[in-house]
Amino acid sequence: MTIRILYGTESGNSEMIADDIAGALTDTGEVSVADLQDTDPAGLSRDDLHLIVCSTYGEGELPASAQPFVDQLASDRPDLAGVRYAIFGLGDSGYAESYSKGSEHLVALLDDLGATRIGEYGRHDAAGFDDAAELATAWAQATVTLPTAI
Ligand SMILES: Cc1cc2nc3c(=O)[nH]c(=O)nc-3n(C[C@H](O)[C@H](O)[C@H](O)COP(=O)(O)O)c2cc1C
Repeated sequence: MTIRILYGTESGNSEMIADDIAGALTDTGEVSVADLQDTDPAGLSRDDLHLIVCSTYGEGELPASAQPFVDQLASDRPDLAGVRYAIFGLGDSGYAESYSKGSEHLVALLDDLGATRIGEYGRHDAAGFDDAAELATAWAQATVTLPTAI
């Protein structure tokens, strides 16, 4: 099993978080990091665990680098039964109406296509005082040790 960390970003935060998670999981086995815009939905494997880090932009929209992946998923509608993923959303609760909606949009689509979400829905709120890297690495370490992750 490979832990595939996939990120969707507009201004780079999610990429940095993805790299931090990869650094924290080096003892866990094979780990890869990729931008969602370089990820083919048809390549999502039932053998791997996907940790997705995705922000929200505009007014609750997906960040630019997640959009091509989501467009392809929505048009191809592959059967994702057996594909396991966990989600960490970056957002800002100052956007009260659309807080974290970008990652929620991605989750809704993956779930609709039959993928299985495991673990807690990780979130970082840029309006708060939590350190995003600390939150995300703790989330990732808890997620990969779940019985459903192995
Ligand atoms: C122009 C702009 C629009 C944003 N819109 C939202 C939003 O609608 N909802 C939300 O939760 N966060 C919103 N955010 C906050 C981002 O999601 C947050 O800053 C995140 O850390 C960015 O991560 P990224 O660099 O990976 O894209 C917005 C930020 C900017 C600069």
